Amino acid sequence: MEQEGTKPVAVVTAGGARIGQAIVLAFARAGYNVVIHYRTLRPAVQTTVDLAHAVGAEVILHQADLAVRAQAEQLLEVTVQRFQRVDVLVANAGAFERTPVDQFSDDVCRRMLDDNLFAALWVSRTFGVWMRNNGNGSIVALADVAALRPWRGYLAYNIAKAGVVAMVRTLAKDLAPAVRVNAVAPGPILFPPGFSEEQQQREIDRTLLRRPGSPEDVAEAVLFLCRNNYITGVVLPVDGGRLLAGDDGH
Ligand SMILES: NC(=O)c1ccc[n+]([C@@H]2O[C@H](COP(=O)([O-])OP(=O)(O)OC[C@H]3O[C@@H](n4cnc5c(N)ncnc54)[C@H](OP(=O)(O)O)[C@@H]3O)[C@@H](O)[C@H]2O)c1
Repeated sequence: MEQEGTKPVAVVTAGGARIGQAIVLAFARAGYNVVIHYRTLRPAVQTTVDLAHAVGAEVILHQADLAVRAQAEQLLEVTVQRFQRVDVLVANAGAFERTPVDQFSDDVCRRMLDDNLFAALWVSRTFGVWMRNNGNGSIVALADVAALRPWRGYLAYNIAKAGVVAMVRTLAKDLAPAVRVNAVAPGPILFPPGFSEEQQQREIDRTLLRRPGSPEDVAEAVLFLCRNNYITGVVLPVDGGRLLAGDDGH
């Protein structure tokens, strides 16, 4: 369904703020039109729309809870209705909460699986099948180094992100050769609200590079995976060497 002469289209879930905003702007600057999904409307979302417009992108803004399959399917419908093509899906939405093994709440556990795994699964499957049926496409999901080296105290989050890796590797097989499916696994980039200075420094000290990454570092990796036509089924850490380092950062 690709149309000659029209710009390629990238859909970014939770594209209105933080890492998602950097991904949206990387694609907008690279000449894509963008679909910016959000769940909660925050001031940053409108800023992202304005910044994407400023570099010449056409933008759709769409609200959805992507843990609900029908809403993920609606995101595809509005995209195709407006642009008649989808070249890239970035499954960026996620959530980060502790689930200490001794105080395991059902609610938090389900929320971690919904917001990290199902929010990635429903869009990836829905867009992936459409892309395959239309001949090509590229999907990148945001995992976490915790999928490969779990954080103590984050059982549900770690399970969900490991599920994202399993999803990416499986879809890379199921949707080949038309659609490529990859993951980026960030290390410490932007800390969650409430992380103390001390906690932040501890995470930074556990990287080989002794500094946090930037949202742009992640966005560049996502763009690279979409541009390189011979990569599928990989998980690319963008982690300052966190996976390689021991817990003392050496
Ligand atoms: N920040 C880091 O250093 C880091 C490190 C490793 C991995 N990552 C991964 O990279 C991605 C982006 O990170 P970030 O820190 O920029 O994210 P973030 O600030 O935690 O924001 C994630 C966004 O996802 C949205 N979301 C969560 N569940 C959703 C659902 N069910 N349906 C629709 N939207 C949903 C949230 O919407 P609401 O605004 O409504 O809550 C939120 O705006 C995430 O997948 C994260 O796990 C980040």
